Amino acid sequence: MLSLKNINKSFTNGKEKNHVLKDIDITIEDGEFVSIMGHSGSGKSTLLNIIGLLDRQFLGEYMLNGIDTHTLDKKSFTNFRNKNVGWVFQNFKLIHNMTVADNVGLPLLYQGKSTREIREIVENTLNKVGILDKANELPKMLSGGQQQRVAIARAIVTNPNILIADEPTGALDSATTVEIMDVFKNLNVMGTTLIIVTHDVLVGGQADRMIKVLDGKIIGTNYEI
Ligand SMILES: Nc1ncnc2c1ncn2[C@@H]1O[C@H](COP(=O)(O)OP(=O)(O)OP(=O)(O)O)[C@@H](O)[C@H]1O
Ligand SMILES: [Mg+2]
Repeated sequence: MLSLKNINKSFTNGKEKNHVLKDIDITIEDGEFVSIMGHSGSGKSTLLNIIGLLDRQFLGEYMLNGIDTHTLDKKSFTNFRNKNVGWVFQNFKLIHNMTVADNVGLPLLYQGKSTREIREIVENTLNKVGILDKANELPKMLSGGQQQRVAIARAIVTNPNILIADEPTGALDSATTVEIMDVFKNLNVMGTTLIIVTHDVLVGGQADRMIKVLDGKIIGTNYEI
């Protein structure tokens, strides 16, 4: 479970202070699928960066799996993220001179796993997202949808309990969006907590709950009936 209490975040540029997140309270249970929607500039990515443990410069309390994230030093914070959270981005962020298998295996390499172990886990993971046949290709040989599958595989290869995606279908056509959402939803059905920021109502509407952000504030949530 994760809970944010009274989260505030400002960016300061010279003398100007931009108060981006205002008194945010959110609780997300394990296994939920939550979407976050709102206008451009409303603070969605800023909020997601906090939830996904990329940013720890904020005011307020963020508890994840029973840990107060403010109590972690920098290294423990990074380890905590790597253990608990997988990230997926709009533009995939794959490493272009590495094969699909090597991209997906990279987080395991950082964990110090053996080549043999990595190969086995990577194969299983690529199979899960339906692109095992692309293991030895370079990312540029793949379609956008296939590249996003690689990115999802890389995000889940360490078995995180939370999968976080910032506009994951923003660069995809509508048919590919449907396919990628199926991949996400399958992972969610298997137990992964799924948190997606999106502009696309057809994507956000598939969540159990939609959190709406306006000018850095939560203005409502919709519950599926
Ligand atoms: N690193 C940063 N430094 C300074 N200001 C920032 C930074 N990141 C975001 N902001 C500001 O915070 C506000 C919210 O930005 P954010 O990226 O969270 O919006 P968003 O809802 O994700 O928008 P979009 O839908 O366009 O991605 C904006 O005013 C933006 O300029
Ligand atoms: Mg954004």
